[in-house]
Amino acid sequence: MSDDFRTIIEPFRIKAVEAIPILTREARAAALEGAGHNLFRLLAEHVTIDLLTDSGTGAMSGAQWAALMNGDESYAGSRSFLRFFEVVKRLTGHPFIFPVHQGRAAERIMARTILPPGSVVVNNTHFDTTRANIEQVGAIAVDLPVAAAANPADASPFKGDMDLARLDRALAEGVTLAMLTLTNNAAGGQPVSMANIEAVSARCKRAGVPFFLDAARFAENAWFIHAREPGFADVALPEIARRMFDLADGFTLSAKKDGLAHIGGVLATRREDWAELFRNELILGEGFPTYGGLAGRDLECVAVGLEEALEPDYLRYRARSVAYFAEGLEAVGVPVVQPPGGHAVFLDAGRLLPHIPAERFPGQALAAALYLEGGVRGVEIGSLMFPAARLQLVRLAMPRRVYTQAHIDYVVEVAERVRARASGIRGYRIVREPPFLRHFSAVLTPDEG
Ligand code: F0G
Repeated sequence: MSDDFRTIIEPFRIKAVEAIPILTREARAAALEGAGHNLFRLLAEHVTIDLLTDSGTGAMSGAQWAALMNGDESYAGSRSFLRFFEVVKRLTGHPFIFPVHQGRAAERIMARTILPPGSVVVNNTHFDTTRANIEQVGAIAVDLPVAAAANPADASPFKGDMDLARLDRALAEGVTLAMLTLTNNAAGGQPVSMANIEAVSARCKRAGVPFFLDAARFAENAWFIHAREPGFADVALPEIARRMFDLADGFTLSAKKDGLAHIGGVLATRREDWAELFRNELILGEGFPTYGGLAGRDLECVAVGLEEALEPDYLRYRARSVAYFAEGLEAVGVPVVQPPGGHAVFLDAGRLLPHIPAERFPGQALAAALYLEGGVRGVEIGSLMFPAARLQLVRLAMPRRVYTQAHIDYVVEVAERVRARASGIRGYRIVREPPFLRHFSAVLTPDEG
């Protein structure tokens, strides 16, 4: 878009619609009670605006649905695999490319093949499944975010960067694999600068340590480099993405994010020795190397989606809609982590509900209040999810190409109403919890105070 309009529009029009449930307050209260006050236990039919995740929840384009009909379901060597391979190879330059059913399958194969027990993996911040897969094989996952990542008020442009001084110390002590998660989901969807990717890559090369990307949100990361990093305003987005991938020895990618698909993932490398290991492990768990846990039709959708995700009008709209959401929330007095990330806004429940102590789950209280007030579902990222969490946040993730500006205005209005009665919102106690990953299934009850 060359004209400089104040309004950045959704660069699509709606061809198919899906009705969303609109419930009465009484029905929402009953659903919340029935779900044990845990939004993961709600049925989707009880949710009006679902911001639980941006993973696999996007709207596919007409071109993707058309490609789906062209899926070639041959067991080996399908036409759909060739199309998928051609797109991933052109975008990333990596020659050994394996489809997997979703991102964590790529992580699992990588961990089981190239990380002997006792290995050390450093990352800006490991996503939960990445950490779990690394720990599963007896390796150690170490997070090295920059200090700014822990400060919600710090609006630095690249809070997803890795702390290079800490990386240097870690490399001196011994590292098996270095990773960068683009964008850094666990730290607020914050981007990593090209300068940081280059610096990490160069240090790893010098130290003889291989370097991987978790490229789940590679297109959003490329957009932030284009928009914020000096020298990249005139560089095309596919070229920025290619430069990021050029710096790595391999990558994992969940196609449920910037693949704009409902399922799928990629594991790729430029190392032939690893490719052999990956292929053998892939056959054990996912399937033959030309379909890897996916149907041919899914490979088609991913191939089209990966290219659509790098279109400048789409990414401009994507970043603007998340920023618009964050501005709206701040304007009605709901504090959010700054700057807004690429795929979500993170509400600062600790600041909004200072009367609720961490052990009474202020993030959960805010998430439940947003549901009760307007049927909005987000996810607590605080002491319920991580007992030692320093920040009490609620993530409202934006599915891609799904909700319009009016939906976002509505969520802001819901949040405004919640803020108006913030001092009366109570915390929660756990009634029942499983031995691990308790946030998914715990049953809670409002604190009687
Ligand atoms: N890496 C990152 C950075 C992620 O955010 C995710 C998933 C994965 C890997 C795993 O990919 O789900 O395809 O197996 N994140 C989702 C979320 C679940 O809600 O943030 P997957």
